[in-house]
Amino acid sequence: MSEEQGNVVIELADVDKYFGRQHVLKGVNLQVREGTTTLIVGASGQGKSVILKHMLGLIKPDGGKVEVFGKDLARISKKELKEIRTQFGVLFQNAALFDSMTVYDNVALPLRERTAASAEKIRDNVMEKLAMMDLENAGEKYPAQLSGGMQKRVGLARALVLSPKIVFFDEPTTGLDVHKSNEIYRLFYRTQEKLKYTAVIVSHDVPKIFKLADAVALIADGVIQGCMSPERFQLSDNPRIRDFVETTMGPIYSSEKEESSLYETV
Ligand SMILES: Nc1ncnc2c1ncn2[C@@H]1O[C@H](COP(=O)(O)OP(=O)(O)O)[C@@H](O)[C@H]1O
Ligand SMILES: [Mg+2]
Repeated sequence: MSEEQGNVVIELADVDKYFGRQHVLKGVNLQVREGTTTLIVGASGQGKSVILKHMLGLIKPDGGKVEVFGKDLARISKKELKEIRTQFGVLFQNAALFDSMTVYDNVALPLRERTAASAEKIRDNVMEKLAMMDLENAGEKYPAQLSGGMQKRVGLARALVLSPKIVFFDEPTTGLDVHKSNEIYRLFYRTQEKLKYTAVIVSHDVPKIFKLADAVALIADGVIQGCMSPERFQLSDNPRIRDFVETTMGPIYSSEKEESSLYETV
């Protein structure tokens, strides 16, 4: 990775994790740099979500350490962990919206719960995020009245409303068709350009998300097989990475033309 890139904001060093007798992470090493998009890929069940949960401080490692902003998550107080988490935005598989609340209230919730912002400040912030997601007219609607793609966009608006330094995405387009997935990635690209957050993404939509990534990390057999630029990843000699590229990412070559215009239009 080139030296011009930002400071390391997340570091997993020799992270081991067992669930019962299952040894899921066997010495995971991974660094995430400020302002970049890191894409974590790998077959189902390899530990991608478990890695994200370590970064979020939701799971503690059995060995090794997890540092965020230079702090070892296992050695800080609950209060410090909470403070770090206020700088996180999270968008998981199901957008996890509250059905009984309007779109506006769903997006406003983190501001109401975690800040002392005035109603006016909250309004400005929420409306700005809704506009970024092309949802300015959906504020009064309830989640059940929205399409799956719109629900994800509300989830993204909510994930960004506290101006997080790091945003975590775990399979953010699950359940969406190709068109809707592209839309989410386009909005992701647009908001990251504007808000400059660091992104960590776990995704199955590898061909689509690939070009947005600064670094791609493959987890297989409990370890990170490599973390490198998409260009180098595609040409890697590592047999696990080659295997992954050939099986999962085959379509990227054939879809190159249609996809290439996608991110230039935003
Ligand atoms: N809380 C848990 N308790 C027991 N096993 C778990 C738990 N979380 C994850 N696992 C197991 O760890 C492995 C990796 O899970 P996960 O990280 O969710 O995979 P994926 O790469 O598909 O996101 C799986 O075998 C899963 O069953
Ligand atoms: Mg997962």
